[in-house]
Amino acid sequence: MLAFAARTVVRPPGLLKPSSLMKTPSRFQAHQDALPRLPVPPLRQTLDHYLKALRPIVSHEEWAQTKQLVEEFQTSGGVGERLQRGLERRAKKSENWLSDWWLQTAYLQYRQPVVIYSNPGLLLPKQDFVDLQGQLWFAAKIIEGVLDFKFMIDNETLPVEYLGGKPLCMNQYYQILSSCRVPGPKQDSVVNFGRAKKPPTHITVVHNYQFFQLDVYHSDGTPLTAQQLFVQLEKIWNSSLQANKEPVGILTSNHRNSWASAYNILIKDKVNRDSVRCIQQSIFTVCLDAPMPRVSDAAYRSHVAGQMLHGGGGQLNSGNRWFDKTLQFIVAEDGSCGLVYEHAAAEGPPIISLVDHVMEFTKKPDQGPSAMVPLPMPKKLRFNITPEIKNEIEKAKQNLSIMIQDLDITMLVFPHFGKDFPKSQNLSPDSFIQMALQLAYYRIYGHACATYESASLRMFHLGRTDTIRSASMDSLAFVQAMDDTSVTEPQKVELLRKAVQAHRAYTDRAIRGEAFDRHLLGLKLQAVEDLVSLPDLFMDTSYAIAMHFNLSTSQVPSKTDCVMFFGPVVPDGYGVCYNPRETHVNFSVSAYNSCAETSASRLAQQLEQALLDMRALLQDHPRAKL
Ligand code: COA
Repeated sequence: MLAFAARTVVRPPGLLKPSSLMKTPSRFQAHQDALPRLPVPPLRQTLDHYLKALRPIVSHEEWAQTKQLVEEFQTSGGVGERLQRGLERRAKKSENWLSDWWLQTAYLQYRQPVVIYSNPGLLLPKQDFVDLQGQLWFAAKIIEGVLDFKFMIDNETLPVEYLGGKPLCMNQYYQILSSCRVPGPKQDSVVNFGRAKKPPTHITVVHNYQFFQLDVYHSDGTPLTAQQLFVQLEKIWNSSLQANKEPVGILTSNHRNSWASAYNILIKDKVNRDSVRCIQQSIFTVCLDAPMPRVSDAAYRSHVAGQMLHGGGGQLNSGNRWFDKTLQFIVAEDGSCGLVYEHAAAEGPPIISLVDHVMEFTKKPDQGPSAMVPLPMPKKLRFNITPEIKNEIEKAKQNLSIMIQDLDITMLVFPHFGKDFPKSQNLSPDSFIQMALQLAYYRIYGHACATYESASLRMFHLGRTDTIRSASMDSLAFVQAMDDTSVTEPQKVELLRKAVQAHRAYTDRAIRGEAFDRHLLGLKLQAVEDLVSLPDLFMDTSYAIAMHFNLSTSQVPSKTDCVMFFGPVVPDGYGVCYNPRETHVNFSVSAYNSCAETSASRLAQQLEQALLDMRALLQDHPRAKL
């Protein structure tokens, strides 16, 4: 891997700073330091919850076998206790016992391509421009909006966020700009230049597969105005009228091992190395996309979701990306826009806060004409493409084409109600939606599956996520009863309410750091670190079933009428993301075409029906007013 002289490698978030480096804490640091540390849950509690979560998804025999293994694992003085003590020691000497492990195992050691498999995309509302002027003007406003947000990050004036009345860790906000993933032979890394001695003052713009360095600050430190940015974008556009024959950016879409070896070849050349460094260091990237083939209005949203997630392929906009870049805004001439981001640095919510700010900013009336100072031509980033690299580009194009053909993605705008209805029933909207997903899945497959929902751990210093397991015995009882004519409607109502409440209770435990998934992962990694053989608990069929998330889901709410999306995490699974608005819900559902048993549109239809049926059930049986 290349070692840049000026690079600041992100300090692994879990490790304590040597005390000699400590200075008076900044406002941000003072807030961070006051946050509670992530606890290590009691061993018995985790194992009890694990056994409970297995019930709806494994057979009686598998469950009995696992119960036996759990008992052996937690015998007094046994391996479980030893690993637990190891974790507790780790927690004492680190800022967060989990965050570094999580960064490594969930992201940096993951070798599948980041495209579809890891990077989430975001679809923004279609803008009402249809020409180049509109495209460039909107892109200029986005840049201005991001710089306005960056001002709050740089000055540490971002308002602290709260969840359930508790302040949240704000660290992820400091990771999303001026950062980039870098491929490595065994594992990747993330580099962040935001707190370097000389932080970057440029963004990268890519048009027709050609990358440009665009300085977005004047020499006195003031940001360029939207008008000045527009002029600069026009220059970029005019000097890249023909598509570059070699879409070098497409290399970043490849399997990480292939990309890591191509990367080493690419950066042997100094010109290439400087260009790559410029992209990695840039504050963020703006992709000015070529028009995509026209599709019907019905197919539009799903089609553009694909454009955001993967670019549409080697012939379309996939070469107009650097998929390792943490944040890439995408603007097309027909008003389609959105973004794609690299997940290692942050979860969806900080990205969404930035997006909400930027979208509000784009609505502001223009400030009037700016001083027409002469601005230098943005620098084109050159690449010397050897036959070897050309060959790698061709391979990456072919792989990506297969991946794109395999992706089955559907956008659903559920128009009938939003958060308002479950709230009116005194039910948590998120839990209500999760139960609708359980019902939709059960109606297709006739059984429950391991279900993942992200829960924020940001109440804790450097917290990321844990898992809410939405499939429970309560959810199973409800979905089994729903279409059973022998169950009365009032009984179904009770089962629905009980299932929603059980999910909400799980959510409350998860955000307090009491879910079991990350704890089990910690115990497993502790065994690896201690070089003891992996306990049987982790080699068990039930464990494999529990970790095979056929439903991988996430709520990412937003003030903007947008939705995020990502690929399924298993070949026979679904990825579901949703943004519950007050009176409607935006959903995205993904699956793989290579799996005959899954269909994104089928799950979306069933989800719509499930939500409607659940509403009808509750409306037909209103609770007696006391
Ligand atoms: N009666 C009436 N209203 C209720 C209610 C009830 N019983 N329960 C909840 N509500 C209200 C809430 O007050 C809230 O009101 P608001 O719209 O004014 O904010 C609203 O309903 C939403 O609450 P709920 O649906 O329960 O969800 P939540 O906001 O608590 O979110 C999670 C739940 C799990 C999504 C959240 O805790 C979380 O962890 N989010 C982060 C997920 C993440 O990181 N995703 C990205 C991964 S890339």
